[in-house]
Amino acid sequence: MQSISLLVCVNQRNSGLACGNRGGDLIAERLARRLQEEGLTEVAIEPIRCLGQCVQGPNVRIAPAGPMFHRVDPEQLEPLLVALKGFMVQRQG
Ligand code: FES
Repeated sequence: MQSISLLVCVNQRNSGLACGNRGGDLIAERLARRLQEEGLTEVAIEPIRCLGQCVQGPNVRIAPAGPMFHRVDPEQLEPLLVALKGFMVQRQG
Protein backbone atom coordinates (compact mmCIF):
# COMPACT_ATOMS: atom_id res chain seq x y z
CA MET A 1 0.00 0.00 0.00
CA GLN A 2 1.28 3.44 -0.91
CA SER A 3 2.40 5.46 2.10
CA ILE A 4 0.46 8.49 3.26
CA SER A 5 1.84 11.99 3.12
CA LEU A 6 0.77 15.54 3.69
CA LEU A 7 1.52 17.70 0.68
CA VAL A 8 2.12 21.16 2.09
CA CYS A 9 2.34 23.99 -0.41
CA VAL A 10 5.32 26.19 0.46
CA ASN A 11 5.49 28.01 -2.87
CA GLN A 12 6.89 31.53 -2.69
CA ARG A 13 6.03 34.18 -5.27
CA ASN A 14 6.20 37.93 -5.54
CA SER A 15 2.43 37.92 -5.38
CA GLY A 16 0.92 37.50 -1.93
CA LEU A 17 -1.31 34.68 -3.17
CA ALA A 18 1.36 32.01 -2.89
CA CYS A 19 0.97 29.67 0.08
CA GLY A 20 4.59 30.13 1.10
CA ASN A 21 3.92 33.85 1.52
CA ARG A 22 1.06 33.05 3.86
CA GLY A 23 2.51 30.57 6.31
CA GLY A 24 3.21 27.43 4.25
CA ASP A 25 6.61 26.83 5.85
CA LEU A 26 5.25 27.33 9.35
CA ILE A 27 2.39 24.93 8.60
CA ALA A 28 4.86 22.28 7.38
CA GLU A 29 7.01 22.73 10.49
CA ARG A 30 4.10 22.56 12.91
CA LEU A 31 2.51 19.59 11.16
CA ALA A 32 5.80 17.71 11.36
CA ARG A 33 5.92 18.38 15.09
CA ARG A 34 2.28 17.35 15.62
CA LEU A 35 2.82 14.13 13.67
CA GLN A 36 5.72 13.30 15.98
CA GLU A 37 3.64 14.10 19.05
CA GLU A 38 0.80 11.92 17.79
CA GLY A 39 3.14 9.05 16.93
CA LEU A 40 2.14 9.25 13.28
CA THR A 41 5.71 8.73 12.15
CA GLU A 42 4.65 6.79 9.05
CA VAL A 43 3.13 9.98 7.60
CA ALA A 44 5.61 12.12 5.65
CA ILE A 45 5.49 15.85 5.16
CA GLU A 46 6.17 16.73 1.53
CA PRO A 47 6.78 20.40 0.82
CA ILE A 48 5.35 21.06 -2.61
CA ARG A 49 5.39 23.86 -5.18
CA CYS A 50 1.74 24.65 -5.83
CA LEU A 51 -1.39 22.55 -5.56
CA GLY A 52 -3.18 24.66 -8.16
CA GLN A 53 -5.52 26.40 -5.70
CA CYS A 54 -3.39 29.44 -4.88
CA VAL A 55 -6.28 31.84 -4.20
CA GLN A 56 -7.58 29.58 -1.44
CA GLY A 57 -4.22 28.96 0.23
CA PRO A 58 -2.41 28.08 2.29
CA ASN A 59 -3.26 24.61 1.01
CA VAL A 60 -2.50 21.12 2.30
CA ARG A 61 -3.55 17.84 0.68
CA ILE A 62 -3.60 14.36 2.12
CA ALA A 63 -2.01 11.98 -0.38
CA PRO A 64 -2.60 9.73 -2.12
CA ALA A 65 -6.01 10.87 -3.33
CA GLY A 66 -7.13 12.46 -0.07
CA PRO A 67 -8.93 15.71 0.59
CA MET A 68 -7.42 19.17 0.20
CA PHE A 69 -7.60 21.73 2.97
CA HIS A 70 -7.78 25.41 2.15
CA ARG A 71 -6.91 28.50 4.15
CA VAL A 72 -5.06 26.35 6.64
CA ASP A 73 -4.28 28.22 9.83
CA PRO A 74 -0.99 27.18 11.47
CA GLU A 75 -2.64 27.90 14.82
CA GLN A 76 -5.50 25.49 14.12
CA LEU A 77 -4.16 22.25 12.71
CA GLU A 78 -6.29 19.87 14.78
CA PRO A 79 -9.16 19.53 12.24
CA LEU A 80 -6.62 18.53 9.63
CA LEU A 81 -5.08 15.95 11.97
CA VAL A 82 -8.51 14.52 12.78
CA ALA A 83 -9.23 14.19 9.05
CA LEU A 84 -5.84 12.57 8.53
CA LYS A 85 -6.54 9.96 11.20
CA GLY A 86 -9.95 9.27 9.63
CA PHE A 87 -8.33 8.89 6.24
CA MET A 88 -5.82 6.42 7.66
CA VAL A 89 -8.57 4.33 9.28
CA GLN A 90 -10.56 4.30 6.02
CA ARG A 91 -7.58 3.01 4.10
CA GLN A 92 -7.08 0.18 6.56
CA GLY A 93 -10.70 -0.94 6.16
S1 FES B 1 0.88 28.56 -4.35
FE1 FES B 1 -0.06 27.13 -3.01
S2 FES B 1 -1.57 26.24 -4.26
FE2 FES B 1 -0.52 27.54 -5.60
